[in-house]
Amino acid sequence: MSGKKFYITTPIYYPSDKLHIGHTYCTVATDAMARYKRMQGCDVMFLTGTDEHGQKIQQKAEAAGVTPQQYVDNIVDGIKALWKLMNISNDRFIRTTDDYHVEAIKKIFRKLYDQGDIYKGTYKGKYCTPCESFWTESQLVDGKCPDCGREVIDAEEEAYFFRLSKYADRLVEYYEAHPDFLEPPSRLNEMVNNFIKPGLEDLCVSRTTFDWGVQVDFDPKHVVYVWIDALSNYITALGYGNDKYHDFEKYWPADVHFVGKEIVRFHSIIWPAMLMALDLPLPGKVYGHGWLKFGGDKMSKSKGNVVDPVVLVGRYGVDALRYFLLREFPFGSDGNFTNEALISRINADLANDLGNLLSRTVAMVGKYFGGTLPAERAADPVDDELLTMAKELRGKYEEQMEKYAFQNALIEVFKVISRANKYIDETAPWVLAKDEANKPRLATVLYNLLECLRISTSLLMPFMPDTAEKARVQIGASAEDFTWEKAGQFGILPAEVSVQKGEALFPRIDMEKELAELAQAQAAPKKEEGKPEQKEEPTAAPITIDEFAKVEMTVCKILACENVPKSEKLLKFQLDDGSGEIRQILSGIAKYYKPEELVGKTVVACTNLPPRKMMGQMSNGMLLSAEKDGQLNLVMLDDKVPAGAKLC
Ligand code: ME8
Ligand code: MG
Repeated sequence: MSGKKFYITTPIYYPSDKLHIGHTYCTVATDAMARYKRMQGCDVMFLTGTDEHGQKIQQKAEAAGVTPQQYVDNIVDGIKALWKLMNISNDRFIRTTDDYHVEAIKKIFRKLYDQGDIYKGTYKGKYCTPCESFWTESQLVDGKCPDCGREVIDAEEEAYFFRLSKYADRLVEYYEAHPDFLEPPSRLNEMVNNFIKPGLEDLCVSRTTFDWGVQVDFDPKHVVYVWIDALSNYITALGYGNDKYHDFEKYWPADVHFVGKEIVRFHSIIWPAMLMALDLPLPGKVYGHGWLKFGGDKMSKSKGNVVDPVVLVGRYGVDALRYFLLREFPFGSDGNFTNEALISRINADLANDLGNLLSRTVAMVGKYFGGTLPAERAADPVDDELLTMAKELRGKYEEQMEKYAFQNALIEVFKVISRANKYIDETAPWVLAKDEANKPRLATVLYNLLECLRISTSLLMPFMPDTAEKARVQIGASAEDFTWEKAGQFGILPAEVSVQKGEALFPRIDMEKELAELAQAQAAPKKEEGKPEQKEEPTAAPITIDEFAKVEMTVCKILACENVPKSEKLLKFQLDDGSGEIRQILSGIAKYYKPEELVGKTVVACTNLPPRKMMGQMSNGMLLSAEKDGQLNLVMLDDKVPAGAKLC
């Protein structure tokens, strides 16, 4: 297993100015899979990126009064920042506007043309502008686009076609020989019955009615129609047809493409046919995941029912959201997103089950043994069931992960966590602690709990990397104790292990209060992009001490500071806020300070505001400054005040 290559991809996303948690869903799942494979020792290539050409983008750029390139550049920065916020560990990020990709698409198109797989003809049909999809009359549903239900328009023009029909038999043969190629299996029947059996038509692969795309070099009034451009990203990103990268031989074919169900058709019919035409091996698997719905509808910006991942991460942390997305919904099916479900999940699984197990165990090692277990042990048959479950966990988890059944893998982990909580009640350590003679038994119970925590939280690493790390430190495990190999063994922690008490992983959330606040946060109108926070005029209305106490103000040391490109107002700060992680804040004070004169200063930040994006960069809080008569000063404190101190 060790060293085996594993190539996994997300779809490349259309540059939308607001990615919602539906988009986040696929990327988080891909990330969990990539981290899991790395943990197993695989040589992983995790690719994501953006799909930037097409008529829709051209129209939006025109409406915004910018060039298409300017339009996409700005949005792509925001998408990258979102992936950073979500702790996405992609190895590569491809943009279809990258020169090397454009060069490769020209070559691919020419090769297919030269060998007769692409020919020139006339396109007559129906076109859905928002989806950038051509449809035949028979594919329409009630005369409308079968994907989005919107109006289609008549279209006729000179166009190039890909001989998709030629590959129909080979595709069906391939599916039969590789029944696992498309999952879940229901999606395969849908493809064969709805698309292949009625007869595959050749695919229109060029357009002349707009020019934001890769130009056909031997016929410049045509641009390559998006699907050839988009699907090829999976090979151009490895260096196929270009000299930017050189690992095509190493990673191709992909082990799995994760895609949403509405683009399964493109990935399981057009993409394999293109690869056949290029004489390249086919991907191991296409996995069509379900949609996240909100109030029963597919979450989509045009329908206005989106949930903002930045708001949710700001309130609950990235790991809670990652966990929720993969635990709540079976990956292959649709799921309905609700704030209630999210909060219940956090409270029940993370605050109660996992959080309590960790805090109780660590607290008891502290209370009964001063933080370090003695070496003497006394086993008891009551331990057996828990130990067996813990020892078998890795195998069960692996079985589910190999099927991309993230939900089931997490359920297995939490079975051990729940069983361990029950074991505390069964063994009643507080009773054992009353009698000195029971100390070896008490130490055994606590050691078993620590080992269960080690195994289960190490297997949570792919899902909740930061949480797993915090748990690791608290239970006194080393990084070497948190490996795939050790997750399959019991008794890895040293007999005289020392724990380190830490903060609660997930504070319990007051459901009612939270739902009200959340509704407000999600409804709040978005402030204009690129505008630094406008400080509110001071209001005379009195506030309660509780309201005041809600504002978290933290002392920070400025580690680095620089101007934000293309912005006259913004400075970007990297701050030590005492948490051990670097906090980035953007502040509109470039007029008043030179970046270099601020490094090393001690300042105050409001640290419980939701993260927000300015000029495509994330800002995680607000620096306090004082203003009078147009003169502005950062609030600075004596350097003796330590980072992380709270104002009170
Ligand atoms: O389709 N729930 O891009 P895209 C789950 N550029 N997944 C969702 C979702 C939701 N509510 N909304 C969107 C494209 N997605 C093409 C792909 S690949 C060569 C080209 C998923 O930005 C959607 O299913 O519209 C798709 O897999 C992905 O987000 C990108 O969607
Ligand atoms: Mg889409």
